[in-house]
Amino acid sequence: MPLVTEGQFEDGFGPDGRFVKFEREGNFIICDETTRPIGRIGFHDYNPEDRHAGLAIFIGEKDVWSKGYGSEAIVAFGNWYFNIKGAHRLWLVVFADNLRAQRAYEKVGFVREGTWRENVYLDGKWADEHLYGLLRREYNARYRPDLGETAL
Ligand SMILES: CC(C)(COP(=O)(O)OP(=O)(O)OC[C@H]1O[C@@H](n2cnc3c(N)ncnc32)[C@H](O)[C@@H]1OP(=O)(O)O)[C@@H](O)C(=O)NCCC(=O)NCCS
Repeated sequence: MPLVTEGQFEDGFGPDGRFVKFEREGNFIICDETTRPIGRIGFHDYNPEDRHAGLAIFIGEKDVWSKGYGSEAIVAFGNWYFNIKGAHRLWLVVFADNLRAQRAYEKVGFVREGTWRENVYLDGKWADEHLYGLLRREYNARYRPDLGETAL
């Protein structure tokens, strides 16, 4: 299945043209400065009553990990998710040993909300997972103060 649907791209937002294309339904391509696609970002399991969903992000090329693309993409996606889609909360679950991902999420403003102990049986071992959450008011206070009190 393709990550995006051909013909549904629009110009996006984000500094340096890094996050330049997105698909209308909330699944976006992450591009580098040359507009080369390097990954994707989107959401899953949207709950329309409580307006929350899980974040899905993946940068496919290891040589561009830890260069800021992931955290920058989350900030750009967050504006669409909270202020255009109108969602209230974004959550994610991450392996406890994935320190790079946790650092990226915490840098952006996600709060660690708890640990699911031995939640996954992987390669013959039990692994812990952490739950993280980011609220609309936290996102907007940090990244969109221009929107004022009503956006909090
Ligand atoms: C997780 C992912 C989206 C993060 O994107 P990214 O562009 O690599 O992340 P960023 O560069 O924005 O931030 C990573 C931070 O972790 C730091 N870091 C890297 N390795 C680390 C480690 N072992 N321990 C602690 N911090 C680490 C980086 O230095 C950077 O922090 P800094 O900016 O303060 O220096 C991306 O690496 C990815 O897709 N990885 C593969 C799939 C994956 O792990 N998905 C997450 C599933 S929940």
